[in-house]
Amino acid sequence: MSLTSCHVHFSPHSDKVIHLSSPLLKSLKFAGKKTVQLKLGKETIRATVRPIRKAGHHLYLSAGIRQSMRVPKRGQVSLMQVEEGELQFGPLIGILTDAGDKSNPNSPFAGRTGYIRQLLKTGESKAYLFAFTPRDINWQYNLVNGYFLNSSGGWYRQQVPLPDVVYNRLPSRKAEHSSTIMNLREKFIKNKIPFFNWSFFNKSDVYKMLDEDVEALQHLPESVNNPKPEKIKEMLEKHQFIYFKPTAGSLGIGIYRLTYHPTRGYFARYRRNGGNVLLRFTTFNSLMRMLQARHGSTLSQYVCQQGVRLIEIDGCPIDFRFHMHKDGNNEWVPVGIGAKKAGKGSVTTHIKNGGQLLTPEQALKATFGSRSDEVLEKAKEVSIKLCEAIERNFPHTLGELGLDIGIDKDGEIWMFEANAKPGRSIFGHPALKSQGRDSYSHIIDYCLYLTRFKGRE
Ligand SMILES: Nc1ncnc2c1ncn2[C@@H]1O[C@H](COP(=O)(O)OP(=O)(O)O)[C@@H](O)[C@H]1O
Ligand SMILES: [Mg+2]
Repeated sequence: MSLTSCHVHFSPHSDKVIHLSSPLLKSLKFAGKKTVQLKLGKETIRATVRPIRKAGHHLYLSAGIRQSMRVPKRGQVSLMQVEEGELQFGPLIGILTDAGDKSNPNSPFAGRTGYIRQLLKTGESKAYLFAFTPRDINWQYNLVNGYFLNSSGGWYRQQVPLPDVVYNRLPSRKAEHSSTIMNLREKFIKNKIPFFNWSFFNKSDVYKMLDEDVEALQHLPESVNNPKPEKIKEMLEKHQFIYFKPTAGSLGIGIYRLTYHPTRGYFARYRRNGGNVLLRFTTFNSLMRMLQARHGSTLSQYVCQQGVRLIEIDGCPIDFRFHMHKDGNNEWVPVGIGAKKAGKGSVTTHIKNGGQLLTPEQALKATFGSRSDEVLEKAKEVSIKLCEAIERNFPHTLGELGLDIGIDKDGEIWMFEANAKPGRSIFGHPALKSQGRDSYSHIIDYCLYLTRFKGRE
């Protein structure tokens, strides 16, 4: 296999012919070759090879080729020779998402448009990138009507072959289970198109994945899926406080912090109508009645988790988001780390519940002083181990995970949940902007790795 980069130009010939500059011919060891199988995404055609005298790596695609292969644009991409006589250019990377209700031509993906634009821009000199929705695929002709970015940042539509890889950012947890989306996954598998990350995680699925993993388990607070009332009571007596959370929840919605005090009884802290409430119950049964009244049978979709005594600043708990990516060598890297300080009286640290973003250094200094670096390094190592453990126990390819990590006063590291389609709020902190850019480039690099358009070390 050989890999090189080249500049793609368009030529007016109507035949299916490619012109290669002499240095490119030489680097591909193509001297004397008459024809080649040319590949873009899942499309292949036979092309005549002609030399052209020009310095540097240049590839001229005739109009005949462009039309039958639907080459999206000129510019810098990679060239790969997988087998003798087969030349693949690209890669063609598809970002799968949804148009959303508030879409318009300037913002085809509603609130996600800025994020997708940034991702396409990041990869523009390395690959052909486009975004698409499930409706944009034509399986009969194996074509996708993609959204591409022009040089001034505007959007245009163009049909292209099926991509080499798909990065999935479908935003709806519910839609993932629809038959349309399940079919889509089967079709990607059948067409050998790698994709990541397929779906959102449920908390209980992640806890189950780590259940047998001795190393990872050390960092998981004791967690029970769909606990019976007796189990909740037992965990409250054992740990003094627990978190009670909907398994498919996010943004802190529906979470309770339950506390047991041997003489004063039971307490439930949670968020209601935009404020924080704290209720006291003299008996365990009255606490359970309140939960049942509020949630009914959906309580079966809750998990119960040992409470961790987090480090604090001004009496407010702090936790961390480790934004993890696979890199171009298929290794997990903690690319972005943000700390979040809970709002006064809030059960969670979410910004929209009054939480405040901090750098990890600011967050750790108050508790660990000069040991802060050491604690952060340890947390980084643990975050990598946790991702590896999740990956080992998950049947599909993973390339990005947002870990919610707690650090207790003894410096022990705990994971509360792993998000398979993590938000990017931490990158809003001025000190984390460059980590936000790294996050985009890691997605592109991992796409290059999955499509083998990257030298593997
Ligand atoms: N077991 C726990 N011990 C201490 N704090 C917790 C625990 N579980 C959750 N939290 C706090 O609540 C927040 C939200 O919990 P999380 O499991 O991430 O749910 P969500 O899906 O709503 O984000 C965490 O970021 C953390 O601040
Ligand atoms: Mg969370």
